[in-house]
Amino acid sequence: MNHPSVDLLNKAVADELQAVHQYMYFHFHLDDQGFGPLAKLFKKTAIVEMGHIETLAERILFLKSDVNMSTSGPIAAIQDPAEILAKAIAMERQSAADYNQAAQQCGANADAATKQLFEALVGDEESHQDAFEKQLDNIKRFGLSYLALQSFGAGAEAPAESK
Ligand SMILES: [Fe+2]
Ligand SMILES: [Fe+2]
Repeated sequence: MNHPSVDLLNKAVADELQAVHQYMYFHFHLDDQGFGPLAKLFKKTAIVEMGHIETLAERILFLKSDVNMSTSGPIAAIQDPAEILAKAIAMERQSAADYNQAAQQCGANADAATKQLFEALVGDEESHQDAFEKQLDNIKRFGLSYLALQSFGAGAEAPAESK
């Protein structure tokens, strides 16, 4: 029988894989539209989510189970920058809520190490949410010209640090 934390960990793997695919889709389209810095923020964040998958997978293997490498759902074909950011913010918010709950459940199952793992992920997802919210706020204040000006000025640097 699986350790009680394994299902929670594998559900998180599926959500993280979903985020990697979705964020790379956003990266391709933002880059294609000439919004280099925002495109780069999505690529950087996708790489962090990939690291999350690795952390989750290591824990699953330690618990003597196997990693299920399928995404939790289809990828949304969203290409408008403000809609992209709204979707990403909703995804990060959902992940933080799910991981908070998973951490509580692991605590109840006396699995402190998995609990800590989920708690660390909550911090990362909230920092992603924060970075995306800053970008969406600026689009709302200044319009899409904000993204265009960012691409001219920043020399393709990502707009905000994303852990
Ligand atoms: Fe993540
Ligand atoms: Fe995230």
